[in-house]
Amino acid sequence: MENTQALIDIMAWITEGEYTSNELRLFEDARQLYELQLAKMEFLNFSTNLDEFIKRTAYFEEVLGKKSWHYYISSVKGKGQIGHTNQYMTHWFYPYKGKFHGQMVKALINFANARNSDVVLDPYLGSGTTLIESSLLGLPGKGVEINPALAIISQIKLDSLGISYPDLSNVLTPALVNEAFKYFKNLKVQPNSIKPTVEEHLNARELLELLWDSYFPRSPLHELPFEWRNFLMLVYLHALSDYTYLKGTRKEKSLQEFFHEDLQEYLRTIEGTYNVIHKLGIELGDYDITIGSTLSLPYPDESIKAIVTSPPYSIALDYIKNDEHLLKYFGIDISALRDQMIGLRGKGKEKLVLYERDLQRSIEEMIRVLKPGGWAVIVLGDISINGTRTNFKDKILNWGAELGCSEVFALERAILGGFARLRFEYLIFLRK
Ligand SMILES: C[S@@+](CC[C@H](N)C(=O)[O-])C[C@H]1O[C@@H](n2cnc3c(N)ncnc32)[C@H](O)[C@@H]1O
Repeated sequence: MENTQALIDIMAWITEGEYTSNELRLFEDARQLYELQLAKMEFLNFSTNLDEFIKRTAYFEEVLGKKSWHYYISSVKGKGQIGHTNQYMTHWFYPYKGKFHGQMVKALINFANARNSDVVLDPYLGSGTTLIESSLLGLPGKGVEINPALAIISQIKLDSLGISYPDLSNVLTPALVNEAFKYFKNLKVQPNSIKPTVEEHLNARELLELLWDSYFPRSPLHELPFEWRNFLMLVYLHALSDYTYLKGTRKEKSLQEFFHEDLQEYLRTIEGTYNVIHKLGIELGDYDITIGSTLSLPYPDESIKAIVTSPPYSIALDYIKNDEHLLKYFGIDISALRDQMIGLRGKGKEKLVLYERDLQRSIEEMIRVLKPGGWAVIVLGDISINGTRTNFKDKILNWGAELGCSEVFALERAILGGFARLRFEYLIFLRK
């Protein structure tokens, strides 16, 4: 019933409302109900300022004959991209399973009305989607991630937005590229030498500097700027993932072949990103990534304007198994990490109990750090376990209400194809 009414409202808005009279054009692939709902929210927040509307909105392709910035940004295509939704610019770097869509995240930041120096937080940062979007919107972003390897990857994806393609391409000779491949391939780190240092609140950039200083022996690569060295490292990690997953399939190749192929595609992205950022004059927002836990966020009360995040979907995905090759490459202590990861702690039935407790605790932390009036938007799949729906959406809405949130509601997003156990995802909105 609720959905039917929402559908009627949206149809009315599209067919006869202000939307048409303002000569706006939605991207033609923005057709799911939740996308139209988010487009309407963007419209309501930005329709009085044409300049902001063009620069910020995620679902509009055109207004008064002018293309939106999202049109150009999403035209820097990445591997696996669907329409204007995901994988554009550096979003596609490193094939992390469980990314959410940049376009949707942008619309959620817009809905939360973050402007100027308002801080955007993702306390379950994963591969950095939220911070890439906040940075492209010129907003300061903060991220917390328990897995040091993902914190590093996110940092490199963000730093890569600012790489000067003309300078990089001038320096990358075939000899240097071969040297880089050999260097990363021969790197031997001590197993379990990195433990997740949650209490230390180490910053991802500091961790990368520490890695180069203490684990990576000196080589000609050290002459390159920090961001470029890291960029090459990320290409190697991408190749390592391709090599691990495609071994034994028709797409199998050597690690070196993947490295060279991936490098060419990464460079195309850096070129496109550089061109679009300069053409539009995008001023990237700052970002800061902490290796830490959502159970105890390293921020003062009432310091964050908007949270856009996606916690692990209950016990549905084993995030550690998916990235084992990566964790081993960096010598990260896997069992220490597993003990601190939400959804992976405990055995059998205890696992779900711990998941619920940890999730609730993390929502309390999010509400604590939010400014009054600020929004937390939590994207969560509707998981069934042994045929029973877990219904964490309703639990989160209840926790939000108990914590004194002034508004709580959810939108439904149908998952088309893909992950069989997951038919819906929810966008859960809590306003402090
Ligand atoms: C669904 S993924 C987030 C994916 C992200 N939205 C993206 O687009 O890449 C959930 C993330 O939560 C992280 N995580 C699990 N337990 C955590 C904890 N206690 N503190 C912080 N992050 C945690 C996992 O390592 C994983 O990267």
